[in-house]
Amino acid sequence: MDTFNRRDGRLFIENCDLSHVAEAYATPCYVYSRAAIEQQWQALDRAFASHDHLVCYAVKANSNLAVLNLLARLGSGFDIVSGGELERVLRAGGDPAKIVFSGVGKTAAEMARALEVGILCFNVESEAELERLNEVAGQMGKRAPVSLRVNPDVDAQTHPYISTGLKDNKFGIEVEHAESVYRRAAAMDHIALVGIDCHIGSQLTSISPFVDALERVLKLVDRLADAGIELRHLDIGGGIGIQYRDEIPPEPDDYAQALLAKLGDRPLTLLMEPGRTIVGNAGVLLTKVEYLKHTPYKNFAIVDAAMNDLLRPSLYSAWQAIEPVIERAGEQRCYDIVGPVCETGDFLGQERELALAAGDLLAVRSAGAYGFVMSSNYNSRPRAVEILVDGDQAHVIRQRESFEQLVAGETLLPE
Ligand code: LLP
Repeated sequence: MDTFNRRDGRLFIENCDLSHVAEAYATPCYVYSRAAIEQQWQALDRAFASHDHLVCYAVKANSNLAVLNLLARLGSGFDIVSGGELERVLRAGGDPAKIVFSGVGKTAAEMARALEVGILCFNVESEAELERLNEVAGQMGKRAPVSLRVNPDVDAQTHPYISTGLKDNKFGIEVEHAESVYRRAAAMDHIALVGIDCHIGSQLTSISPFVDALERVLKLVDRLADAGIELRHLDIGGGIGIQYRDEIPPEPDDYAQALLAKLGDRPLTLLMEPGRTIVGNAGVLLTKVEYLKHTPYKNFAIVDAAMNDLLRPSLYSAWQAIEPVIERAGEQRCYDIVGPVCETGDFLGQERELALAAGDLLAVRSAGAYGFVMSSNYNSRPRAVEILVDGDQAHVIRQRESFEQLVAGETLLPE
């Protein structure tokens, strides 16, 4: 079944009519499809079936406990970047032995907690971090399992804000310098070298940058093996793109074949950290048109979702499809779809041809990844409700934030 489908002009996710979901739970409202998430994860997992591998879902893309729990049930691993994400994975029933911990700024407390629960690996991004990890593990009488994240200096050909594998990015250790850091790490008492890692960027729509990065990393792996440093796994990172508009992202099978061919017969488990490709096209943001404003210069549809709910259009000029939930006949006009936040940059889409009336529902597509997780309370707007559709059932997986929750933790000065 196509998890997103139209019946008599009405948009459905699986067997749920989205206009009914909006009626029941109000808008703005994120809605995800269980089947779509599971299909994506399984397709990637299947594509690598011929080789020892672990799909470590990048929690940052969508960290709702119910989403993490679905993936944990499939046997997924997880890529985390904070203590908060670690606790989420544990709360959702994820296996700590399948967690990799990325990120440039791990605190000592985060390291200690990850060591305590026994994660699979720390993806270490600098020498200073390596020293700190050695110290923290030493205090706990443990050895920390480590991959060094190397920066292969490959152009991911994506938006500069989400490109991470170039020399002048803050991520990873330059590939030329990495061998000496490996040697240092090998001599540390509380570090166990288990792997190597890279992540070159996000929303990549061609396979060649992944292959280039892998080639560079493998050269280093081979040099390390010659030096007696044998690794167990290679983590190729995340970054597989999705179709927002007319991009043609790599198919899982093509991606797997290209990588496995390069890997050859090296006895390395392949890890990957996909986020967007698992959840991105599995979700929509539902919003209602509050007002239409027609001017001689421009037409605006003012909707009840804003940049605080979905930041990608404002932050990256990202284009996401916007469709009516119930198609209406009538004249189409060119609209900017804007929110109520007091910023000119507060838009969800610009110059969209739509036939609209106040009260209509719109679905912003491809909002399952980097949608809710990047939302904020700017303009004191409570965060949206999240719904997970499973067949004909719609489950609330996060309640809409209340005013009391919004101000919880704030106090007045004493009189
Ligand atoms: N691993 C690491 C170390 C990462 O930094 C990221 C994403 C991933 C994996 C997952 O990448 P994915 O498979 O989702 O492309 N907010 C931006 C995307 C930021 C991505 C940050 N890192 C957006 O909305 O486009």
